[in-house]
Amino acid sequence: MTMADVLNDFIYGGSPYEGLDLAAYPLDLQGWFEEPEVFDMIIDQVQPHVIIEVGSWKGTSAHHMINRALRYKDASIICIDTWLGASEHWLNPQWRAMLNIRAGRPTLHEQFMANVVHAGLQNRVTPLPLTSRLASMFLRELNLGGEPFTAPMIYIDGAHDEASVTEDINSYWPLLSPGGVMLGDDCAPPWTGVMNAVARFRAESADQILQTGNIKTRWFAQKVA
Ligand SMILES: C[S@@+](CC[C@H](N)C(=O)[O-])C[C@H]1O[C@@H](n2cnc3c(N)ncnc32)[C@H](O)[C@@H]1O
Repeated sequence: MTMADVLNDFIYGGSPYEGLDLAAYPLDLQGWFEEPEVFDMIIDQVQPHVIIEVGSWKGTSAHHMINRALRYKDASIICIDTWLGASEHWLNPQWRAMLNIRAGRPTLHEQFMANVVHAGLQNRVTPLPLTSRLASMFLRELNLGGEPFTAPMIYIDGAHDEASVTEDINSYWPLLSPGGVMLGDDCAPPWTGVMNAVARFRAESADQILQTGNIKTRWFAQKVA
């Protein structure tokens, strides 16, 4: 059994991918996934057996990361998202259309789940449809064999306002394994909220960071071992 199978059993009592209307949601990997080489560089170095992603949208970045990680390990990914979008998606009419709102609610979750099945990744992906804060609490309380749950790679790509990014970094940093790498998206203009949150984290947590920097528009921090 993969880690995703274990988690899916624990959370859902089996596969969460049963009974989806796949015909209504053909493969649609629209998203904002760019610079795949940055993920590849980090995954090739860390070779994670588990990845936590905060902010999955329709799954493009998750699919890329898990496929790369599978080159090295029997890997799994935990995808955390409300699948309700962030304020910028609701404000921008073009992005609001991408929420594919039905009966007053985005259908991102349906699309994400169908995409996992279309890609044959059901045994690799655990969806957690919670706010990032609640999901971090869940994972910190999770005890699957005596050890606190940690992951060697965590990708932060949820809400982009300063308060949310600060909260996401601080609540997921304890879930990062010693020596592991946290990375995040959009640490570049116009995303000043991300830039400010990352700068403050680097200053306040310097003693816990082995190395940090930006690669293209992404920021990363490796935890001391
Ligand atoms: C930029 S998109 C993620 C894009 C995705 N990583 C990709 O590359 O395709 C941001 C996602 O964060 C989610 N999100 C925003 N605020 C959140 C929160 N507080 N908790 C959980 N998910 C959140 C939104 O629903 C949205 O799907």
